[in-house]
Amino acid sequence: MSDDSRPLPTPTRTAAVIPAAGRGVRLGPGAPKALRTLGGTPMLIHAVRALAASRAVSLVVVVAPPDGTAEVKSLLDAHALPDRTDFLVVPGGDSRQESVKLGLDALPPGHDIVLVHDAARPLVPVDTVDAVIEAVRDGAPAVVPALPLADTVKEVEPAVTTADPEPVVATPERARLRAVQTPQGFDRATLIRAHESVTENVTDDASMVEQLGLTVVVVPGHEEAFKVTRPLDLVLAEAVLARRRLNDGY
Ligand code: C5P
Repeated sequence: MSDDSRPLPTPTRTAAVIPAAGRGVRLGPGAPKALRTLGGTPMLIHAVRALAASRAVSLVVVVAPPDGTAEVKSLLDAHALPDRTDFLVVPGGDSRQESVKLGLDALPPGHDIVLVHDAARPLVPVDTVDAVIEAVRDGAPAVVPALPLADTVKEVEPAVTTADPEPVVATPERARLRAVQTPQGFDRATLIRAHESVTENVTDDASMVEQLGLTVVVVPGHEEAFKVTRPLDLVLAEAVLARRRLNDGY
């Protein structure tokens, strides 16, 4: 018997929001972090290419520093990007959370899956992006890529000044902890609801979905999806790029 009578599955379209409006003060003085270069190319362009490398991603929304929207638009124009992907640039806000919300507000209808990816993670491999999308397609409302920790983590009572020693209050069992990366993937309606209802400050989007009482799932992250935060991370990122050039003529 033929399958012709079965309705075709509705294709899921994926959009990526890239918050890139941070100053990156921990990296030292200079341009906003996302506009600093790695291997001669702005970190933001690496991040945009990393997401657009997924064939599932049809739109990338870049959330730019509020005074840098025109500069980001001309950067996107000046660098080769896949033709199959659309790009939008919107101004960001004072916090990462606000910047992500402004990116979500700019999403046109028709994208059921939304990825949120830090511009500060320029080297995430496309396989990680695809694994996150796949897990959302399989029905998870929120998906995070994550890695086990190398360090033992202590919870402390934060000191008022850096001179004071900090008392340890707990040591969570390391085997149960994961270091969470991006892109984080979401059912679009769930992420919008999370941003509308959670008002306190969070450091990632998935925790807002957790606060709605929904299950967030973890897929394997990748060591090259690390966040460029401190000066040493720039050295590591340059080394990863150099290794890629050697290995696959990237
Ligand atoms: O500060 P943090 O390293 O957690 O920033 C993660 C990402 O959020 C970076 O890509 C940064 O550009 C972005 N961000 C933003 N708007 C802010 C602060 C951070 O888009 N106001």
